[in-house]
Amino acid sequence: MAGNRTFTMIKPDAVEAGHIGGILNMITEAGFRIVSLKLTQLTVADAQEFYAVHKERPFFGELVEFMTRGPIVAAILEKNNAVEDFRKLIGATNPADAAEGTIRKKYAKSVGENAVHGSDSDENAEIEGNFHFSGREKF
Ligand code: RTP
Ligand code: MG
Repeated sequence: MAGNRTFTMIKPDAVEAGHIGGILNMITEAGFRIVSLKLTQLTVADAQEFYAVHKERPFFGELVEFMTRGPIVAAILEKNNAVEDFRKLIGATNPADAAEGTIRKKYAKSVGENAVHGSDSDENAEIEGNFHFSGREKF
C-alpha cells in the first residue's frame, strides 16, 4: 500500500526568486498537509550525502554547487498516496517537459535549477525526511 507522507525541498533558485510562498500555496491547495517545515542551508557534505545516488553522474558537481549556494526550505508533507501525487504536482525534471499546472512548469528555470525536490519512493521519503528532521519533527 502506498504511504501517506513524502519529503520536499524548495531549492535555492526558487528561494532566491521569492517563490517560497507561491510554492507552499500550490502544495497546500493540492491537498497536502505540512507536517514539518524549516528554512535551512545545506553544507557541501550534506548535499553530497543527500544526492549520493547521483555521484557518478556528470552533473553531480554542478548539482552540489547549486544546492548549497543559498537557503532551501525542507518539508515533510502528508496526503493519501503522497509520493506519487507529489511527483505529479511538481512535474517533469526538465521544466520544458513539465505539464501545465505543475510547480516546475510555473517556477523552474532549467533541468538543473528546477525549483523543487520530491522523493521518488516511500522508502526514500522516510530516509530524506529523517535526514532533515529529528525528534518531534521527524518523518
Ligand atoms: P529531485 O530528485 O530533485 O526531485 O529531481 P528528479 O527526481 O526529478 O530528478 P533526478 O534525476 O533525481 O535528478 C536530481 C536533480 O539533479 C539535477 N539534474 N541536473 N544538468 C542535468 O542534466 C541534470 N539532471 C538532473 C536536477 O536539479 C534534478 O532535480
Ligand atoms: Mg530524484
